[in-house]
Amino acid sequence: MSTVSPEAPSTDVDLFDHEFLQAPYAAYRELREQGRAVHVPAQGFWLIPRYDDVRAAAADWETFTSSQGVALLDDFNQPMLGTILASDPPRHTDLRGVLSEQLAPRALGAVREHIGAEVARVVSECAEAGSFDGVSQLGQRIPLEVVSHLIGLPEEGRDTLLPGADAVFTTFGPFSPTVESRMGDFMAYMGFMTSFTDASRLRPGSWGADIFAAVEAGRITGQDAVSLMMAYLVAGMDTTSNSLTALLHLFATRPDVWHAVQEDPSRASAVYEECLRLESPVQGFFRVVTKDVDLGDAVVPAGDRVLLHFGMANRDDAHYADADEFQIDRNPIDHMAFGYGTHSCAGQGLARLEAKALAAALVDQVASIELAGDPELHENPVVRGFGHLPLTVVRK
Ligand code: HEM
Repeated sequence: MSTVSPEAPSTDVDLFDHEFLQAPYAAYRELREQGRAVHVPAQGFWLIPRYDDVRAAAADWETFTSSQGVALLDDFNQPMLGTILASDPPRHTDLRGVLSEQLAPRALGAVREHIGAEVARVVSECAEAGSFDGVSQLGQRIPLEVVSHLIGLPEEGRDTLLPGADAVFTTFGPFSPTVESRMGDFMAYMGFMTSFTDASRLRPGSWGADIFAAVEAGRITGQDAVSLMMAYLVAGMDTTSNSLTALLHLFATRPDVWHAVQEDPSRASAVYEECLRLESPVQGFFRVVTKDVDLGDAVVPAGDRVLLHFGMANRDDAHYADADEFQIDRNPIDHMAFGYGTHSCAGQGLARLEAKALAAALVDQVASIELAGDPELHENPVVRGFGHLPLTVVRK
């Protein structure tokens, strides 16, 4: 790594440590105050913690390239290079173009009914049970059902998707025993995904079938097709389920918010955006800088890795007044939970549909919602959310 000037802010905080992740928000504030770029020498990267800088960096793919990977370690970046997440234009534009029509608002409008019906069915099962785990029995089931259906996957093999997606995101941080322990899930998931060599086992008219049609048309290779299906399946799973369980937790712990949404369901959208801002499921992704970048007291040298911390940016008081507070009417539509710029989340419209469907089904079917025990966080270096959320609901 290149020389770091002595004035550059620096920290020995381990952002991926188990204890740290249990309650990180006071430290987020201190790190934001430390500077625009904070060196993390122990792990060999720079943290970018403030809203304006994260946004500007996400918008500038030429200086903050994704083409060397968006994870911390080269070994884990290597197999991802050239995928939609780990590429720059023009290659990125070609890959992103394959499903851009399917993800546009008009096309999503056509699947709204299907999503609403699926979510209502899952909520009804939970309401019938009365007490349930908001993660495994509700939050995770929605994206698993919705995204698998949209990609057109057969039933068999879907059980590899949630553990596989989590294992993939585990490799975005430092090497740890957790990474090692997840290799079985990772391999099972890879085995399932690489078993698709054409559209024959995919639902006709599905996104997966469209991806293989792009291979037939010579737009992408067969290898690109598998990596694109994987990108949508990884990126659309625990990200969404974590956001849905954060919403459930909010309803269970803030009766005022739950009652406001019950009385006026149109408030659910703004509530979801505020929830995403405060409990951003993707806390941050890495980039590499292609030239020296001047960020206040620090010059980040060309070739160094930086962490664009969406979670810290979303709690920056310089952008959002009293940023650590939940405000029901804030409607922070410029939050960065979905990233920003070239790589901004391709599935954000779909995630919003799933959340709206969840809120609507709850309002329809449930009178009250409460915690039935202590929630537990699930540990992952870049994706934040609950691993366990005991809930009790009373049916209407
Ligand atoms: C609440 C749920 C979600 C959150 C918080 C989220 C967050 C993000 C973030 C922060 C990025 C930016 C990556 C970067 O800057 O390097 C991203 C990219 C992406 N997301 Fe999402 N996502 C969510 C749901 C989904 C869903 C439902 C899908 C599709 C089924 C999806 C597909 C993608 C894809 C394909 C990319 C890569 C885009 C690119 O590199 O051009 N995401 N997501």
